[in-house]
Amino acid sequence: MSRAVCPGSFDPVTHGHLDIVARAARLFDEVVVAVGVNPSKSRLFGPDERVSMLERAIADIPNARVEGFTGLVTDFCREQGAEAIVKGLRSSGDFDYELPMAHMNVALTGVETVFLPTATGQSFVSSSLVKEVAAFGGDVAAFVPGFVLEALTTRLAERAAGA
Ligand code: PNS
Repeated sequence: MSRAVCPGSFDPVTHGHLDIVARAARLFDEVVVAVGVNPSKSRLFGPDERVSMLERAIADIPNARVEGFTGLVTDFCREQGAEAIVKGLRSSGDFDYELPMAHMNVALTGVETVFLPTATGQSFVSSSLVKEVAAFGGDVAAFVPGFVLEALTTRLAERAAGA
């Protein structure tokens, strides 16, 4: 059985992420969506909240499941018996950021990275931009599932109120 890991912060999950997971699920027998923590990014949602949102978002993909992880993504891949990491590439900037990590990960444990070009309609979508636009009252409904939009709106209102 072929198994791949799709790692990310998913803070929050976007349609861009979901496109990559769905396409990875057509290439591999099983896909594990791995929800991690990127210490260089500020988080709006906690790890359990991000896992819950992803579980709901990928419920229609029968060969995909969600796990939280800490530590090295290569160690997580080994624990899961995954031979590949799947990442979406939106731009040459993504490629420059991802390539050294792909080299490091194959050097560490032999796990390969498969890059999928992001769907053209999603190539400008990132969780960070979605959060920024939403925080200033912009309409991000086209970029995230409806229930994520609700959670985002609620969380931003709580933050604005100082909660
Ligand atoms: O969506 P992001 O923020 O790009 O996701 C980043 C994440 C969590 C997938 C990445 O930071 C990660 O893989 N962290 C685990 C630590 C690790 O393995 N670092 C070495 C990479 S060569």
